[in-house]
Amino acid sequence: MNLAIIGAGYVGLVTGACLADVGNRVVCVERNSERLDVLRHGGVPFFEPGLAELVAHNAQAGRLSFTDDLASAVHRAEIVFIAVGTPADEDGSADLGHVLEASAALGRTISRDMVVVIKSTVPVGTCHRVQAVIDQELRARGVDWRIAIASNPEFLKEGSAVDDFQRPDRIVIGTEDPEALRLMAALYAPYNRNRDRLIHTDVRSAEFTKYASNVMLATRISLMNELARIAEKVGADIEAVRHGTGADPRIGHHFLYAGVGYGGSCFPKDIQALARLAADHGESTPLLHSVQRVNEEQKRVLATKIRQHLGTSLKGRCIALWGLAFKPNTDDIREAPSIALVRELLADGATVRAYDPAAAENARRAIDHPGLTIVPTAWDACEGADVLAVVTEWREFKSPDFHGLAALLKCRAIFDGRNLYDPDYVESCGLAYYGIGRGGRRVRSGSAETDAYAVMTGYW
Ligand SMILES: NC(=O)c1ccc[n+]([C@@H]2O[C@H](COP(=O)([O-])OP(=O)(O)OC[C@H]3O[C@@H](n4cnc5c(N)ncnc54)[C@H](O)[C@@H]3O)[C@@H](O)[C@H]2O)c1
Repeated sequence: MNLAIIGAGYVGLVTGACLADVGNRVVCVERNSERLDVLRHGGVPFFEPGLAELVAHNAQAGRLSFTDDLASAVHRAEIVFIAVGTPADEDGSADLGHVLEASAALGRTISRDMVVVIKSTVPVGTCHRVQAVIDQELRARGVDWRIAIASNPEFLKEGSAVDDFQRPDRIVIGTEDPEALRLMAALYAPYNRNRDRLIHTDVRSAEFTKYASNVMLATRISLMNELARIAEKVGADIEAVRHGTGADPRIGHHFLYAGVGYGGSCFPKDIQALARLAADHGESTPLLHSVQRVNEEQKRVLATKIRQHLGTSLKGRCIALWGLAFKPNTDDIREAPSIALVRELLADGATVRAYDPAAAENARRAIDHPGLTIVPTAWDACEGADVLAVVTEWREFKSPDFHGLAALLKCRAIFDGRNLYDPDYVESCGLAYYGIGRGGRRVRSGSAETDAYAVMTGYW
């Protein structure tokens, strides 16, 4: 098929590259000239595992191209995806400026029948607004192309986006138009062979499904974080509790980790947007507000623990920090807990030596402060530092040389924001250990060998 994708960000570019890879001809429209320049020169403007190779391969094969000229991109397109950003507005609602602007531009350029697919995460009712905007532009031009609308929310996870797109657990298509459904089913057929993953709904339910999914996941995280705080107070270890709780198949082990809070470009803004949407319809959302509040508080937990360990003032202290990205395998720092922590430490008079395998450049741009030094290796971060805070669970942080760290860190303490390490083992290496919700110590039931393996892999 001939496809156009408006917006070549995390979602648009992954979608475009993956759909080109199965044989479609895809043109990505990107208006950010810096991003476009990188893409046109064979690069990828952000880090996402496997994406650079996929983009290069399909661009070389002539199936994937990039432009800022919408008209030329949609000229032959049977399906146009809108995958532009929907950031939070000042009142928390989703800012639909980019979506509606793209829709109007589409309406001014469309020159054939087509399906317009909204992939951006948008409040319920937006797809119908998009349809109205396009129809209005077509009427103003005095043309009568048949435009069908579909909502196709994206569930990929940054860090494994290519794999998620190629092996989706579901493909949600919301449309009331049979021809749009037929075309979309054909487009996604290559990803739908092993079992039927296609879920067909009405447009509004598809829009809502995306918010419901993100809110469900964020709630799970905040609940675990609240349980972790209680565990700390009552002397239980949230890691042991997690194993015991997750063993119930109704609960499951996925997404059951206590930590320093969720971040990223989706959960924070999507929860706010849903709360706002509900308020606009006269519905209160006490649970959603609590999920957000717990998360904001959780982002401050490591700073509080560091302050308690080092004394009330952090003036003159140096904190080593591992991990700036909001999660591993991405360079995305939007709403990252690391950024909140760095800001708090700097405001308290500390200096920070931070390391991240991928997000250094983005963090440098986000925080321009003489107290923050971003260094090239994890060990450089610990040079001259008092203590170490681990914020993102990158693989390379999972099994460090704790004896080496004990020799390097002046105040010999690790603040493990992702519960990566075995507290007893860390302490046996001469370091104070602070995790999240680790009030008790795990009762070891395995052999010494399994314990050693668990320490090595960080699986406790
Ligand atoms: N990032 C994720 O993990 C993820 C996952 C699922 C859904 N989503 C949703 O997908 C949408 C896009 O997210 P993202 O992270 O890819 O955003 P992004 O900010 O990385 O990318 C959006 C891109 O669209 C471009 N753009 C905006 N208006 C344009 C226009 N009129 N013409 C051409 N280009 C335009 C921007 O320059 C930018 O490069 C959002 O609604 C988001 O909530 C994101």
